[in-house]
Amino acid sequence: MIKRRDFPILNKKINGQQMIYFDNAATAQKPLAVIQAMDKYYLQSNANVHRGLNPLAEEATQAYEAARIVVADFISATPTEVIFTRGATEGINLIARTWGETNLQAGDRIVLSLAEHHSNLVPWLQLKEKLGVELVYIPLKKNGELNLVAAKKLLALPRVKLLAITQASNVLGILNPLHSLLNIAHARHIISVVDAAQSITHFPVNVQQLGCDFLVFSGHKIWGPTGIGVLYGRQELLQKMPPFLGGGEMIGAVYQDHFTVNKLPHKFEAGTPPIAEAIGLAAAIQYVNKLGWQTIQAQEQKLTSYFLERLATLKFVKVLGRPRLLSQKLPVFSLLITGIHPHDAADLLGQEAIILRAGNHCTQPLHQFFSLSATLRASLSFYNTKAEIDIFIRKLKKLYRLWNNKDNS
Ligand SMILES: Cc1ncc(COP(=O)(O)O)c(C=O)c1O
Repeated sequence: MIKRRDFPILNKKINGQQMIYFDNAATAQKPLAVIQAMDKYYLQSNANVHRGLNPLAEEATQAYEAARIVVADFISATPTEVIFTRGATEGINLIARTWGETNLQAGDRIVLSLAEHHSNLVPWLQLKEKLGVELVYIPLKKNGELNLVAAKKLLALPRVKLLAITQASNVLGILNPLHSLLNIAHARHIISVVDAAQSITHFPVNVQQLGCDFLVFSGHKIWGPTGIGVLYGRQELLQKMPPFLGGGEMIGAVYQDHFTVNKLPHKFEAGTPPIAEAIGLAAAIQYVNKLGWQTIQAQEQKLTSYFLERLATLKFVKVLGRPRLLSQKLPVFSLLITGIHPHDAADLLGQEAIILRAGNHCTQPLHQFFSLSATLRASLSFYNTKAEIDIFIRKLKKLYRLWNNKDNS
C-alpha cells in the first residue's frame, strides 16, 4: 500500500501552502527507510571498505557488498557485473572512456536518438572530438515517438559500432521500443548502452530480458540517495576494458613501473566508494520490492491518464510528446503555456508551493528539434495524487488568467 507518510518531506509547506512535488524526473524524494539505513550505517558501522582487516571494516564491507547483491538482483545481473558509480552520467563517461577509446576509431558510427539527455550525448561528442567517430541521430516523429523505420535504416549503415539510447525520455515521458532496437543491434554485433535513468523508477528493468551490453542509472531518481549510480556491463566486455580511474582498490599490485588490476567489479571502483549511499540505494530498492511494481505502476497509470484528461480541458496548454498508446507514456509532462514563458510559470507556481522544472532539461538537441528553448515539466511519482493534479490545474488556470490581465492592463 502506498503511504505518503513514508516520505516526510511531502508534508513540507512553502509560503504557508502544502508543497506539491512534481519534479520527480529531476530527483525523487526519499522514504524514511532510506534515510534510516544511511543513519544506521554512520551511527553503527562507519569504516572504510575492503581494506581494514578489522571487525568494523568487515561490517562496513559486508553491508556495501550486500547492497551490490540487492542491486544485481533488482536488474537480474550478477554482482560482478554491477559497478557502483556516482550516477548515470559517470557510468556513461566510464563506457566512453574505457570501452569507447579502446574499441572505436575514426569513421566508426555511434547511433543515438535526438531525445538523449546530455549525459548520453556529450561523452559521445567528446569521442567525436578525440577519435573522429561519427554520431548519427534517430529522428523523432512529430508526436515525439522514435521513428523506428529510420532507426532500422541507421542501424544498417556500415561501421555502426554502438547504439546509445535512453529507455524513456526525461522530457517527453515516452518509452522507446528498446526490444526492437536491441534485437537489431545484437544481430549486427553493435554494442548497446541503455540509459535507464528515467525508466528504472517506473517499471522493472531486466538486463537479461533486454539483452543490452551496458545499462546505467542513478540512485537518486529511484528514491535513493544522491552520489551513487549503477553501471551494469556484460562480464565479458568489462573484463576486456581498461580501468577508468586509477588509485586505491582498483589495483591488483603496484610496482614502480607498472600495476596490475583488481578483479571485477573493483577494477572500476577506484578510491573510497560511496558506502553509505550504496546502503541507501539498497534500502530504496528494498522499499520498491516491498511496495511492489504492480502498485507503483497502477497508481502511475491512473495519474498519467488523469493528468492528460485534465490538461486536455485547458485550451492554453500544449503537451509535448503524445505517443499513440497510453501504455507508452510515463507520468512526465512537458508543457507549453500560451503567452507564459516556462521560467515564469515555474517561478510563479513555485511561489504557490508547486515544484516544477523549467528549462531544456539537459536535452538541447531535442528542444532544437521542436524549435523550443524551454518547456515546463511536471513529473509525477507514485506518491502523488489526483487531488494534487486538481490543485495544479486550478493554479495553472489562475496563473493564466492573472498573467493575461496583467498583459492587458
Ligand atoms: C534520461 C537521463 N539520463 C541521464 C541523466 C543523468 O543522471 P545523473 O545526473 O543522475 O547522472 C538524467 C538525469 O536527469 C536523465 O533524465
